[in-house]
Amino acid sequence: MRKNIVAGNWKMNKNLQEGLDLVKDLQTALFSKKVKCDVVVCTPFIHLGAVNGMIDKTKVKLGAQNCADKVSGAYTGEISAEMVASTGAKYVILGHSERRAYYGETNDMLKEKVQLALANNLTPIFCIGEVLGEREAGQQNTVVKKQIEEGLFALSAEDFGKIVLAYEPVWAIGTGKTATSDQAQEMHAFIRQTVAAKYGQAVADATSILYGGSCNAANAKELFANPDVDGGLIGGASLKVDTFMPIVEAF
Ligand code: 13P
Repeated sequence: MRKNIVAGNWKMNKNLQEGLDLVKDLQTALFSKKVKCDVVVCTPFIHLGAVNGMIDKTKVKLGAQNCADKVSGAYTGEISAEMVASTGAKYVILGHSERRAYYGETNDMLKEKVQLALANNLTPIFCIGEVLGEREAGQQNTVVKKQIEEGLFALSAEDFGKIVLAYEPVWAIGTGKTATSDQAQEMHAFIRQTVAAKYGQAVADATSILYGGSCNAANAKELFANPDVDGGLIGGASLKVDTFMPIVEAF
């Protein structure tokens, strides 16, 4: 009913040649396995065109890690959703906690980015998640709900149906401290309920909700076995075939 997806977020890693080598090796590994999920690589912008030219799209799907909140014009250094789409990429990560924390991205800006991504036929992988202090204060549900409401709930049900969500507790990102399987399932179920309350159960049931934050070969199987966890958004472990493939194969 909904897709299982394992997406690699390379962040600011790999020069062009290293990136092409990684995709080539990943694709070779994928050809020799029967994989039960969609595999997406979200590369730096400069890799997109070249990677698109070398992938077999039945095996590997391509995404960017961001796009601008403006259509076009005098915004030096920015990359628009249309430009991303013109490379052949099909996905775009939006609202990653690193973008929110280091580059001041607000829910209002993200709302614009989501609309532009959808207008250019990109699938947003929309990231949400609380910081440690918020979890310790028991505010994680309130925080995540607000991110979803402000970033996404202006969308029609039809457009919301095109969104992939990624729950990434900020305290688990790059820390080696994964959310427990129970914590992940509890939050994912809450997210699905929140979506159901706004758009109805059918839309909620069709929405893929990925988990991200120190997901690796050792914990992926248990995390993905949860009924509301539909895959992963993988940072560090997506940078090598040897660490990424076991996560893909966890389905
Ligand atoms: P790590 O897998 O390195 O913790 O990163 C998760 C992440 O931020 C993916 O977007």
